Amino acid sequence: MPLKIIDHGSKEYKQMVEMRNQILRKPLGLSFKPEELEKEKEDVLIGAFEDDEMLGCCLLTQVDASSVRLRQMAVKTGLQGKGIGRVLMQFAENLARDRGNRKIVMHARKTAVGFYEKLGYKVAGSEFEEVTIPHYIMEKQL
Ligand SMILES: CC(C)(COP(=O)(O)OP(=O)(O)OC[C@H]1O[C@@H](n2cnc3c(N)ncnc32)[C@H](O)[C@@H]1OP(=O)(O)O)[C@@H](O)C(=O)NCCC(=O)NCCS
Repeated sequence: MPLKIIDHGSKEYKQMVEMRNQILRKPLGLSFKPEELEKEKEDVLIGAFEDDEMLGCCLLTQVDASSVRLRQMAVKTGLQGKGIGRVLMQFAENLARDRGNRKIVMHARKTAVGFYEKLGYKVAGSEFEEVTIPHYIMEKQL
């Protein structure tokens, strides 16, 4: 399963946005604003592929000189629970580390906290609401 950095605006990026919409936004009755997507030009966009089909994705946003925020983690419905998310996270962590970062932070959905805990992330702080659902800040030193 090849993992790739995707260019903003490319065919793969369009696939990524469509997948994120299906998995992360539509079920909540939400969608992406053009300005939200425009800002992603600054981000590291990551996809897992099988031939030309995207199986999963995530992205990294630089927060400060030594930390990044992991966002938009999603694995295709029907392929979840098969190890794709773990491989994506390992790829993203290696990239972050190679770029000189010491820490990854995220706003994790409450339903995904157990997944991130398995990968060594710790909850930092109390529950809050984002995109209409409960989240926790989670972090890991690289
Ligand atoms: C959460 C998500 C990204 C995980 O990816 P995945 O490919 O399904 O996860 P993996 O198969 O790599 O799982 C790795 C381990 O975490 C566990 N795990 C997976 N999802 C979990 C969850 N939601 N809660 C608790 N544990 C979970 C797996 O059982 C596996 O455990 P094991 O190593 O003991 O077998 C994926 O299920 C998904 O896209 N969910 C819907 C969207 C979402 O919630 N995204 C996260 C937003 S913060």
